[in-house]
Amino acid sequence: MGSTMVEFKNPATATLLEAVKTRRTIYGLKAESPVSDDTIEAIVRDAVLHVPSSFNTQTSRVVLLLKEEHQKVWDIALEAMEGLVAAGALPKEAYESHTKPKLEGFRAAYGTALFFVDYDSLKDIKEKFAAYADKFDPFALESNAMSQYLVWTALASEGFGANLQHYSPLIDEQITKQWNIPASWKLDAQLVFGTPTSRPMEKTFAPIEDRFKVFGKSA
Ligand SMILES: Cc1cc2nc3c(=O)[nH]c(=O)nc-3n(C[C@H](O)[C@H](O)[C@H](O)COP(=O)(O)O)c2cc1C
Repeated sequence: MGSTMVEFKNPATATLLEAVKTRRTIYGLKAESPVSDDTIEAIVRDAVLHVPSSFNTQTSRVVLLLKEEHQKVWDIALEAMEGLVAAGALPKEAYESHTKPKLEGFRAAYGTALFFVDYDSLKDIKEKFAAYADKFDPFALESNAMSQYLVWTALASEGFGANLQHYSPLIDEQITKQWNIPASWKLDAQLVFGTPTSRPMEKTFAPIEDRFKVFGKSA
């Protein structure tokens, strides 16, 4: 589904919107990269530096894991899920037929970006702007989501497939231990990426007319 044909003053706007449409959820991924590791790192660094945050609080933290380091995330998740099976909290059949192949699919990819929020860093600003205190945590999560989206979109633009996962809090303790992550960093999402081996699923769109209104537009 595209936007109405319009002419942009800056051709980069059309390119940006093309990238927005290119980004999809892709689960079939292999451990190859269409670009250098430096390129991947540059994307993540730019996201960390330039994605906005409320009051410029800069609450997002990202850990980029490639190749063997990436595989460790999914070994941690597999081990955690096996723990649930052993504890009787997850049926063994469901684990073997569904969860395990899914996690092994993530492990087969090239990299994972871990997105964290440092809520503790908001302590001072919450005191300074007490009236907004309860708004800062959700704002921090919204800013983190912007970083996730930018990295996802930029990686897709470079030829990666990617999917966004949420295995927190199940994997938090081991992740913190494995990479010596500061205790104040709270894991939110894991963006898995690699060279695509499958196409995205068919996507349906609810009518745009029910979801978007414009007022005051010139003819
Ligand atoms: C906030 C958010 C959370 C999501 N969480 C998951 C997730 O935990 N696991 C997953 O496989 N996909 C997850 N997704 C992917 C969505 O299912 C997917 O983006 C949506 O179905 C639209 O498909 P598309 O990404 O191909 O456009 C998430 C997406 C968003 C925006």
